[in-house]
Amino acid sequence: MKFSKVPLAHLPTRIEYLSRLSEVLEGPQIYCKRDDQTGLGFGGNKIRKLEFLLAEALQNQARTLVSVGAIQSNHCRQVAALAARAGLDCILVLSGKQPELATGNLYLDQLFGAEIVWADRDNRLQLLDAVIEQARKDGRAPYKIPYGGSNAVGAMGYMEAMHELREDEKQLGFNFDWIVTASSSGGTQAGMILGALAWLFTGKILGIAIEGTTAELSQIIRQLISECMDLNQLHMRVPESMINVNDAYTGMGYGVMGEPEVESIRLFAKHEGLLLDPVYTGRAAAGMIDLIRKGFFSKEEKVLFWHTGGTPALFAEPYLSQLQ
Ligand SMILES: Cc1ncc(COP(=O)(O)O)c(C=O)c1O
Repeated sequence: MKFSKVPLAHLPTRIEYLSRLSEVLEGPQIYCKRDDQTGLGFGGNKIRKLEFLLAEALQNQARTLVSVGAIQSNHCRQVAALAARAGLDCILVLSGKQPELATGNLYLDQLFGAEIVWADRDNRLQLLDAVIEQARKDGRAPYKIPYGGSNAVGAMGYMEAMHELREDEKQLGFNFDWIVTASSSGGTQAGMILGALAWLFTGKILGIAIEGTTAELSQIIRQLISECMDLNQLHMRVPESMINVNDAYTGMGYGVMGEPEVESIRLFAKHEGLLLDPVYTGRAAAGMIDLIRKGFFSKEEKVLFWHTGGTPALFAEPYLSQLQ
């Protein structure tokens, strides 16, 4: 790959066989890739993207990382930790209402020293641009990290992760039939698809949509794949059949935890001592569990649940009360 990265993540992440959960669900053999343990600032999937984005920021002589997300954004918490580690300033544009007591990811943003600018969900992207403009005028050399870290540079983190997975498969002595992962701003899945093509992954990748429709998210992923190929001067044909998004589990909308997420969080915790999160991995696991119950996977198949992190949100309201 042509682009450099700043190696920060604890890699390779481990793969664990979830024998008890596999038994309880009476379906395929379920494994888990622990990207919730990528190391920096409680880890998560964004660290892989941010390794590449930070390299570009440093090349541009940036002194301030600026990004955007929801009040409990895992992405923003990882950006804040990254800025602290790199000795840069951090400004986060967060949608939501400033609470009296910061909990979960927001609490961590503050510990990492990020400056918070409050926004509405509708205007947060405009506000992001205005904040960047102001930071530029103030001589703070801002570098914009897009929503979810999902652009061509960020997607390279998951393209590279598929090379890691192919090495994991060699060590394990078998190949996975499926990867199931949470998909939201699309960069994780787009990178995985490109990496699957580049390193000849033989299984299928299924993204469980966190919000939006299959058509919308597939289009975002298609676009990111094309931009990432341009950036790397790759000339591969990406078959449409590789872009698999299931939007049946978006429930009551982004960030609203319902019964399916509560069940999946409890199942993973009780049977495996593994923590999921209320917004992303809880929803993706709920989708996987429902598909298992419907017989979507055969018993012989090996399914890799790619854990993308997010657990600090377990300690934030309203999730904390809902899970009591
Ligand atoms: C825990 C977690 N999982 C999955 C995702 C989705 O990744 P992507 O935005 O690359 O689709 C996110 C995004 O914020 C996340 O925080």
